[in-house]
Amino acid sequence: MSTENLPWVEKYRPSTLDEVNGQQHVVQTVRKFAKDGRIPHLLFYGPPGTGKTSTIIALARELYGKNYRNMVLELNASDDRGIDVVRDQIKNFASTRQIFNSGFKLIILDEADAMSNAAQNALRRVIEKYTKNTRFCILANYSHKLNPALLSRCTRFRFSPLPDSALQERVDAVIKAERLRIAPDAREALLELSEGDMRRALNVLQACSTAVDDGEEISQDMVYECVGAPRPQSVNTVLDAIMKNDWTDAYATMTKVRKTEGLALVDLMAGFVRILDGFELRPRTRTAILHGLGDIEYGISKGGSDKIQSTAVIGVIKNALENEAA
Ligand SMILES: Nc1ncnc2c1ncn2[C@@H]1O[C@H](COP(=O)(O)OP(=O)(O)O)[C@@H](O)[C@H]1O
Ligand SMILES: [Mg+2]
Repeated sequence: MSTENLPWVEKYRPSTLDEVNGQQHVVQTVRKFAKDGRIPHLLFYGPPGTGKTSTIIALARELYGKNYRNMVLELNASDDRGIDVVRDQIKNFASTRQIFNSGFKLIILDEADAMSNAAQNALRRVIEKYTKNTRFCILANYSHKLNPALLSRCTRFRFSPLPDSALQERVDAVIKAERLRIAPDAREALLELSEGDMRRALNVLQACSTAVDDGEEISQDMVYECVGAPRPQSVNTVLDAIMKNDWTDAYATMTKVRKTEGLALVDLMAGFVRILDGFELRPRTRTAILHGLGDIEYGISKGGSDKIQSTAVIGVIKNALENEAA
């Protein structure tokens, strides 16, 4: 199969456990399970783009090799056809006799935390019923959305957001393989804006590579544009206006920057948080700003008026910085 038209997240998906970046603890432990031939039911949970699906698929490849197709069933638990469909598929798969293989079959259930409680209970019974010749690997973003009875049947592994070093390794490998030219500050911005999510890092990198002409260098602005995040200069302009100018002018500057860059208020707020990270502030000031912005973000998510929320942002920052100076 040609890999030319594949999205990079597929093209560069790790094909062995060795290729999974970061998550050493998980990789080491599951590798030991595989070596001992004693695989428990597994639960991988953590934020998107950290390697949950990749790790279980790489493990399954190492376990089954050419038999992968016969031995592994990948299902999406949030399948909108409902738990009955999922249950039937599991039943068919788990109860087919294996003529050429011995050992466990593996069922990978993605997005299990999207299942209703009733569906999770049904799943728990299915797991019990087929434990004799089947192992389950449940993937989820949040473990607290899973039923305790289901949790207690699995060995749990938390996937953390990937550290920069892990993102870097793969991003650099892709830059090399695709022969991209990227400015050093653009690469830095890419790593930072990805926030530990490798899927995002690769998708943004691919979007940037499509945006440049052959041989042209990917610039920092381009990275910000592809992410939909404000450029640091623009955030600084607004922040400056808030700190130094009066209210009306601060609001005008904010509105103008948002318009020219097409920014939602929350994007701008995320930009403030990133920049304020690098400021030296009293803890009290920092807390006041973050607390205030948190409330405003919640207000926005509840459908609050843009004008009121925008002015509130200005108020929160002005207030906190005036207290800092006092
Ligand atoms: N730890 C990792 N090491 C290497 N690549 C990764 C890692 N995590 C994610 N990726 C990349 O991001 C894509 C999405 O990863 P995936 O395993 O599906 O994440 P999750 O299931 O946690 O959302 C993969 O195709 C792979 O290219
Ligand atoms: Mg996944």
